[in-house]
Amino acid sequence: MEILDLRHFSSADLRPLLDDETRAWASLLSWDYNGSAEMILRYVDAKILPGYAAIERGRIFGYSFFVYEGSKGVVGDLFVANGGRLANPREVEIRLLTHVIETLQQSPGIHRVEAQLLAHETGSVARPFLDQGFQRHARLFMVLPLINSVAQSPTKHPEIEIRRWTEADYQPAAAVITAAYRGHVDAQINDQYHTLAGSLRFLNNIVRFPGCGLFDIESSFAAVDRKAKNLIGLILCSRVRGDVGHVTQVCVLPEYRSRGLGESLLAATSANLRKRGFTMMSLTVTEANAGAVALYRRLNFESKRVFDAFVWQG
Ligand SMILES: CC(C)(COP(=O)(O)OP(=O)(O)OC[C@H]1O[C@@H](n2cnc3c(N)ncnc32)[C@H](O)[C@@H]1OP(=O)(O)O)[C@@H](O)C(=O)NCCC(=O)NCCS
Repeated sequence: MEILDLRHFSSADLRPLLDDETRAWASLLSWDYNGSAEMILRYVDAKILPGYAAIERGRIFGYSFFVYEGSKGVVGDLFVANGGRLANPREVEIRLLTHVIETLQQSPGIHRVEAQLLAHETGSVARPFLDQGFQRHARLFMVLPLINSVAQSPTKHPEIEIRRWTEADYQPAAAVITAAYRGHVDAQINDQYHTLAGSLRFLNNIVRFPGCGLFDIESSFAAVDRKAKNLIGLILCSRVRGDVGHVTQVCVLPEYRSRGLGESLLAATSANLRKRGFTMMSLTVTEANAGAVALYRRLNFESKRVFDAFVWQG
């Protein structure tokens, strides 16, 4: 087995592996990976996707790629086919990750590396990260079935309006996100939350790029203080499969918390998805974010998988 630079290959070389990966995401996460796969293949053909491929007898059977975002490197994905031919697919995953981590840590100007491996069970590929001084945060992938389940009626808040998300909400939403995650464990995992510019980049990625499903404006909402007229909370949802919505962001300003607004935002999204025939709603949450985990459990979300987020600060 050889590990080679991904930029030596074309989309035709990588497509069979991505077809396998698409099947894996569908069964593990009820997630249609086709949109992401097509984007990856376009970047591969343009020879601009940094990463590594595991090769045996001329065939790619594993890959991992990363992206640079300013002075940060983000591990984009890791996948090794397990069609029964490999004696030890985990070892291949670890070798690919070791190369990716080494490359990123040695890249000039890169001071931070982040990775979230949604399709990998917690602990399964932790070794190369921990060996290189990364911090690890356990995260839950949670789902709420929308059929044969009863919609809960949330608290009413006469002073707050919950209305559909609009383009004009971008800037104020970035300010709400920055304030909502100040001192929060998720700001250790994703440093975009630290600044207004970073939160805007986060929003831009969610709303404009298909990396995390297709942004679904109809099931995304803003909470507005009727008197002060300012945005105080939001929920964003993307379509990750024809009938599955994934909450990519939910937050409420600290001074408006614990009065049922988080619950109402989640109820607005789930009611909209139900009405449109979606069968499931999913989200991810850091295990240490105990209040949010408790809220989701109370709303009948079930934890389906535990995966890891890794962070290295040089
Ligand atoms: C998670 C978050 C969105 C929840 O928002 P919220 O408006 O506080 O949520 P709710 O008020 O609906 O529920 C929170 C708590 O308030 C309690 N509560 C709800 N309505 C209440 C009311 N009328 N009176 C008193 N308490 C109430 C709930 O029991 C709940 O307590 P619990 O978490 O111990 O079960 C908010 O804490 C937040 O923005 N956190 C930072 C960002 C974040 O972590 N987002 C989630 C990432 S996955």
